[in-house]
Amino acid sequence: MNLIDAVQTRHTVKAFEPGYSLPQASVDALLAALHYSPSSVNSQPSHFVVASTPEGRERMAKATQGGFSYNEPKVLNASHVIALCMRTDLDEGHLDTILSQEERDGRFQVDGAKGLQNKTRRSYVDMHRYELRDVPQWMEKQVYLALGGLLVSAAVLGIDATPMEGFDSRALDLEFGLRERGLTSVVLAAFGRRSDQDFNARLPKSRLPREQVFTFV
Ligand SMILES: Cc1cc2nc3c(=O)[nH]c(=O)nc-3n(C[C@H](O)[C@H](O)[C@H](O)COP(=O)(O)O)c2cc1C
Repeated sequence: MNLIDAVQTRHTVKAFEPGYSLPQASVDALLAALHYSPSSVNSQPSHFVVASTPEGRERMAKATQGGFSYNEPKVLNASHVIALCMRTDLDEGHLDTILSQEERDGRFQVDGAKGLQNKTRRSYVDMHRYELRDVPQWMEKQVYLALGGLLVSAAVLGIDATPMEGFDSRALDLEFGLRERGLTSVVLAAFGRRSDQDFNARLPKSRLPREQVFTFV
């Protein structure tokens, strides 16, 4: 699908067809969109938990109880549910791991490139740690960027999707032992095929007028 058609026709699916499984090639494409998502100074603070089995989705659904139960059927009936998570800190170990990976991937081709990259990244991390004091918010922005890329990718591929902030992050973290791993969940995204019950498929899209959204200078 071309991009304009994709962004105009995609919608948040409110009901998935139970039992439908996405083709593996579609899943691989979505995972690639996440894996190759850009991040500020290549900080890569994201981690993704992918549920693709009834058992996995039931575990995810433990975070959609009580006030979030409106999202439970989406989690249970989707083909795949992805919890987009972030690190709880940008610690030294993680910064060293990224630098080593960049070196293995052949990013440092001239003398001093590795040191410069390390210094530049750390200056940004220090700015967010000490001056702006917003490291968690900064990391969370990178996760939402991944979500945006993921949703656009799904739209272009014709895959039905639902982003969800309506879940209990604490319950999800506990279920998957995320906090012990220095991670915490940020947002969910479910993928699959819409069912006849998906009322949103029949509603027109609503956005503020173009003139209000853009300023051309
Ligand atoms: C970050 C984010 C969180 C959202 N959380 C939920 C949610 O928990 N449950 C739900 O049904 N829709 C959720 N939505 C869907 C929005 O309500 C929807 O994107 C918006 O109304 C625009 O409609 P459209 O996606 O159909 O174009 C979420 C969307 C985003 C981007």
